[in-house]
Amino acid sequence: MQELISRTVSCGVYIITARHGDKINGMTAAWVTQVSFKPALVGVAVSRQRYTYELIEASRVFCINAVSREQVQLAKEFGFKTGRRVDKFANVEYMNAPKGSPIIKAAYAYLECEVVQTVEMGDHLFVAGRVETGAVLNGQVEPLIFRWGDFFGGK
Ligand SMILES: Cc1cc2nc3c(=O)[nH]c(=O)nc-3n(C[C@H](O)[C@H](O)[C@H](O)COP(=O)(O)O)c2cc1C
Repeated sequence: MQELISRTVSCGVYIITARHGDKINGMTAAWVTQVSFKPALVGVAVSRQRYTYELIEASRVFCINAVSREQVQLAKEFGFKTGRRVDKFANVEYMNAPKGSPIIKAAYAYLECEVVQTVEMGDHLFVAGRVETGAVLNGQVEPLIFRWGDFFGGK
């Protein structure tokens, strides 16, 4: 079923970052979408189990970092390990957005968002955020479109 859905509904690949105090982390997410023009709202479906969610819940802020076609490996680094056990930023350069979220310098664009609503949906939480700031850092690259086989093997 999951492979069918992801073959039908196209998604990009993003790294959602967050900071609470001196703790920073990031996780790969494909379930990211815009949900409103005015105010400008975007949302991400995040499992409650993610360490990233712990930081978002505490800080009420997150940042969407957009990943390009050449960055499958980066997305794997953030998508198959938990920040509870490894420092995913050990070899990743970042700078701080105004509200403190890490902006991955290699991302081609980012949006820093303040949480406006969190809705429980099945086994994930839909976390909607108002876009506070953002920028395109590199307009020359193509976005990474999620393909099941790039991350989970098979077709
Ligand atoms: C391509 C890809 C897409 C993913 N999309 C999501 C997503 O949309 N929501 C989510 O909660 N987890 C998603 N994950 C899983 C998290 O990235 C993964 O569980 C991560 O290790 C969580 O890290 P953390 O515990 O440090 O927050 C995705 C993983 C991959 C590889």
